Amino acid sequence: MMKILVATEKPFAPVAITLIREVLENGGHELVLLEKYKTTQELHDAVADADAMIVRSDIVDAALIGVAPKLKIVVRAGAGYDNLDLNACTDHNVVAMNTPGQNSNAVAELAFGMMLFSARGGFDGKTGSELMGKSLGLHAFGNVGKCMARIAAGLDMQIFAFDPFVENNFMRDAGVIPVETVEELYSRCQYVSLHIPANDKTRNSVGEKLLSLMPQGAVLVNTARKEVINESELLTVMVKRSDMKYLSDVSPDNAELFAEKFAGRYFFTPKKMGAQTEEANINAGVAAARQIVSFLATGDETYRVNKPK
Ligand SMILES: NC(=O)c1ccc[n+]([C@@H]2O[C@H](COP(=O)([O-])OP(=O)(O)OC[C@H]3O[C@@H](n4cnc5c(N)ncnc54)[C@H](O)[C@@H]3O)[C@@H](O)[C@H]2O)c1
Repeated sequence: MMKILVATEKPFAPVAITLIREVLENGGHELVLLEKYKTTQELHDAVADADAMIVRSDIVDAALIGVAPKLKIVVRAGAGYDNLDLNACTDHNVVAMNTPGQNSNAVAELAFGMMLFSARGGFDGKTGSELMGKSLGLHAFGNVGKCMARIAAGLDMQIFAFDPFVENNFMRDAGVIPVETVEELYSRCQYVSLHIPANDKTRNSVGEKLLSLMPQGAVLVNTARKEVINESELLTVMVKRSDMKYLSDVSPDNAELFAEKFAGRYFFTPKKMGAQTEEANINAGVAAARQIVSFLATGDETYRVNKPK
């Protein structure tokens, strides 16, 4: 029997834990639960004798890997894995995985929730606008991008996407017009929704150059990561352009400046909540548990995201 630690500062929905426990126990393993921990020390103590670990946005860095001598696998229950130190995992022969696609619909629904809320002036009872017929640019066409296209088609939006790693035909089959350059995406679309991962190429990549290209009534929607935005350039553009709005799942670093200068032109969720639905919790948590059981039983490394040593 192996010890599988579920370490989440932001807990899973209780029903997700019941199902994760079932998968792990059916696989012959023991679940150890650490929720809402307050200090890194608590996390380090808990991982000291764990064979495997499931996390959400929790930081898995070299210090943590260093105090977990039995750890064989860590699974981020979610899509983005920028909270895992992949090199440290590789150095210590720990397999790192994510659970792609399990929370994409939840994220896409939040993006549309924010867009509708903003288009109707925060439901203030005054005249607003509709999404029908408006142009939507998907900056990346991965799992969330695909869900965005499905919902946008129902709203009769014109959908464009830029993703150099996805075949144009795949986008066309989803009712999406592929564009060849990122500049074209921003030039053509009133709404641009970000679905790029945060990595060395994308961090700080959305700034004045791209945002200035957007047409009148521009709305930037960010359910990706705040790090992909060049925040000081976004502030500059929003000062220059009184028509531009920014909607984001998680507050930017200078939230108070937005409140001071851009009333009615921004919305931020109080806490990152794109993947915070009961359904997404269950999907991602159970997928993580299944991946661990399968890896420990057969060495199955599907969804591995770090290099082997
Ligand atoms: N708000 C939330 O709670 C929440 C939840 C899930 C995911 N996310 C974020 O959203 C991101 C996207 O999620 P996903 O599930 O669609 O991931 P995914 O891995 O399925 O898709 C990412 C897509 O980005 C494309 N891409 C990579 N670099 C690019 C670039 N420079 N230009 C254009 N396209 C590029 C890839 O080809 C891929 O198609 C995640 O990396 C994560 O940061 C946030």
